[in-house]
Amino acid sequence: MAFPRDFVWGVATAAYQIEGSTTVDGRRPSIWDAFCERPGTVAGGDSGEPGADHYRRMAEDVALMARLGVRAYRFSIAWPRVRPDAGAVNPAGLDFYERLVDELLRAGITPWATLYHWDLPQALEERGGWASRDTAHRFADYADAVLGRLGDRVGTWTTLNEPWCSAFLGYGSGRHAPGRTDPSSAVAAGHHLLLAHGLGVAAIREHAPAARAGLTLNLFPVNVADPASEADAEVRRRIDGLQNRFFLDPVLRGEYPADVLADLEPYGLGGVIDPGDLDVVSAPLDLLGVNYYRDLYVSSIPDEHSGPPSEWVGAEYTGFPDRDLPHTDSGWVVNAGELTGLLVRLHEEYPRLPLYVTENGAAFPDRAGASGMVEDHDRIAFVEAHLRAAHAALQKGVDLRGYFYWSLLDNFEWAEGYAKRFGLVHVDFATQRRTPKASASWYSRVIEDNGLQE
Ligand code: NOJ
Repeated sequence: MAFPRDFVWGVATAAYQIEGSTTVDGRRPSIWDAFCERPGTVAGGDSGEPGADHYRRMAEDVALMARLGVRAYRFSIAWPRVRPDAGAVNPAGLDFYERLVDELLRAGITPWATLYHWDLPQALEERGGWASRDTAHRFADYADAVLGRLGDRVGTWTTLNEPWCSAFLGYGSGRHAPGRTDPSSAVAAGHHLLLAHGLGVAAIREHAPAARAGLTLNLFPVNVADPASEADAEVRRRIDGLQNRFFLDPVLRGEYPADVLADLEPYGLGGVIDPGDLDVVSAPLDLLGVNYYRDLYVSSIPDEHSGPPSEWVGAEYTGFPDRDLPHTDSGWVVNAGELTGLLVRLHEEYPRLPLYVTENGAAFPDRAGASGMVEDHDRIAFVEAHLRAAHAALQKGVDLRGYFYWSLLDNFEWAEGYAKRFGLVHVDFATQRRTPKASASWYSRVIEDNGLQE
């Protein structure tokens, strides 16, 4: 099962999840540092300290990727290192990413940089955070600083990672930082994130005219419990609107879908859109990144997952019934086949845009076998099934150009803390010792073969 000749095989991480060293070289707190300090927000009381100590072990980690044969590395740059409190640029913060990029280039690994993977400087949250329009302009200043330093050597940039999470988990249900539970703020945050994306694309074009610019979204196929029910169909429309079309349509069609505008009118969506915003938001892109973990399965019958405070603004009483399918350690169903349909939908509804799976992966309760090796055959089966689904999309004509496994290393899984391990490489957080799991050698082989054995 061969993949196209130039197919990009990569791994992904994010700054706050792996770096640690949160107080050095002029870094100031992000919303996640502040959120983790609040009791009851993160499992085990964990925080981004120590992370996987990557800030200090960067060269070792690049060498590890080189040994695995990884072709591209998707990482994020920490805004609180670079422009910690909205004011002056902190050159020491940029030095780290310059060293990382140079190390990658030396190792023959293509850098893919993400400008924002959820770590807003806390100083900006105190001025209104993403609910405030000003934050989008501060993001533009930050992007300008990063692109000014690294625009000459990073060929692929994405502006934001999963803005749905930043807006709706951050300001709606409060399950993520900054932990606010105000539906109107969540909606405003969603629009301001999109505006920030557009301003970020402008910074990329200005400083790095030859580079490619994109956006990474967490997109979900939405399936219903009762295909014969009109009420379920209506729930599906709303959830698809909030999760997928709220982001896809402004960016790729230059407008919010009419039904989403109507659904969110009571929460002030129309009021935060200024004239000209959508022209900025819909700046042409070179690629779309898709993060895929599972599908959503919804019902019009509320259940224990329903009710405010919720990330599902205007659709709080959606039910999320359980299904008799295998689950990962995150409690997420494994439903690999749905990836094919998602990619086909994107290819058909938003045509002529190269697609990349910028994240796919799973947490499993990895246990070392007698040899001391983590024999994570469930992870191998998970990735293999998703690669087969990706290959099926290619055969249907989808312009899919690459796949990034989430994640290179076990790391800080946000509100779940360190207990959920997604890495191809096991990290002992007490010693920071790295041990590649069975899945790491399996993935190396896939990369070397440019595909799967039939
Ligand atoms: C999406 C996010 O981008 C990443 O930060 C997170 O760890 C993975 N999914 C797994 O939940």
